[in-house]
Amino acid sequence: MGEPVQDLAALEADARETIAAAADLPALQAARAALLGRKGSLSQILRGLGGLPPEERGRVGQAANRLKGEVEAWVEARRASLEGAARDRSLAEHQLDVSLPGDVAPRGHLHPTTQVEREVVAFFASLGFSVETGPEVETEYHNFEALNFPDDHPARDMQDTFFVEGGAVLRTHTSPVQIRAMSGREPPFRFIAPGRVYRHDRSLRHFPMFHQVEGFMVDERASFADLKGILYAFARHMMGERVDLRFRASFFPFTEPSAEMDFTCLVCDGAGCPTCSQSGWVEWGGCGMIHPNVLGHCGIDAERWQGFAFGMGLDRAAMLRHGIPNIHLLFEGDLRVLEQF
Ligand code: DAH
Repeated sequence: MGEPVQDLAALEADARETIAAAADLPALQAARAALLGRKGSLSQILRGLGGLPPEERGRVGQAANRLKGEVEAWVEARRASLEGAARDRSLAEHQLDVSLPGDVAPRGHLHPTTQVEREVVAFFASLGFSVETGPEVETEYHNFEALNFPDDHPARDMQDTFFVEGGAVLRTHTSPVQIRAMSGREPPFRFIAPGRVYRHDRSLRHFPMFHQVEGFMVDERASFADLKGILYAFARHMMGERVDLRFRASFFPFTEPSAEMDFTCLVCDGAGCPTCSQSGWVEWGGCGMIHPNVLGHCGIDAERWQGFAFGMGLDRAAMLRHGIPNIHLLFEGDLRVLEQF
């Protein structure tokens, strides 16, 4: 073994170089262990101090401890510089341009029937009608009996009605909302009631679930003339000024008198075409003066109050508006179809 202080000088030069040359954190860790680890060269010198003659011990000890402190400082400095370089590299690699435009999230739209429904509701709201709703699983009382359907009326038949266990039905029309909205309330009323209805029926023009809207008004004077005026205004609002309406005498248990209404076919302007089966007219819905028995079922004095009601399909309107030939296309959820509206 040479002169210990000279050994320290050599060690110092060597340590400075190895630490500066450590290319990454593991290499730096290894260099530190070689110097300061349990078997590291500096540790060995410190451990060997006891074997030195007493007059050298203090001097060498001081120099070794100073070097130990310096080595720690160099390691820390090198570590900081390696870490800084790594951070700079990573920042350069993962550059983020905050000025780039964002990803545009795909945006949906309302179903064509919902679009029609909202327009209908908005129109009647402008006339002071408010929206009423009722359950889709309905009692026979609300769906039929209170609407003056006799027990043996064909509409109650299995052919039309979906019966639910326990004596309920899937409502076959929105008219039962009349009963729910009027029972236990005092007229005057102006209500509009859109919603889903169900019938055991399936063809190009029929689907077992479809949408109707019911409207009704009760006060001391509401007349068939008021009904016609409102329906004309409604038709022109929805379909344009040139549309005409036609009322045909008809029968519904819950209205008397009753009528069915048609509007001029907008495809052929009334001349006759396949859409209107050459008739020039398209069926729109039913209407009439609310039957006194219906008012009676709702606890309303039919001697004092009278009113009109109307009901119509919403899906047909959406189909006509968009030239959709088959009602099934509306409800099968095929996005290739629905995205077009
Ligand atoms: N509820 C009838 C149906 O589904 C439609 C209807 C006709 C409703 C005449 C009415 C009305 O309010 O007055 O076929």
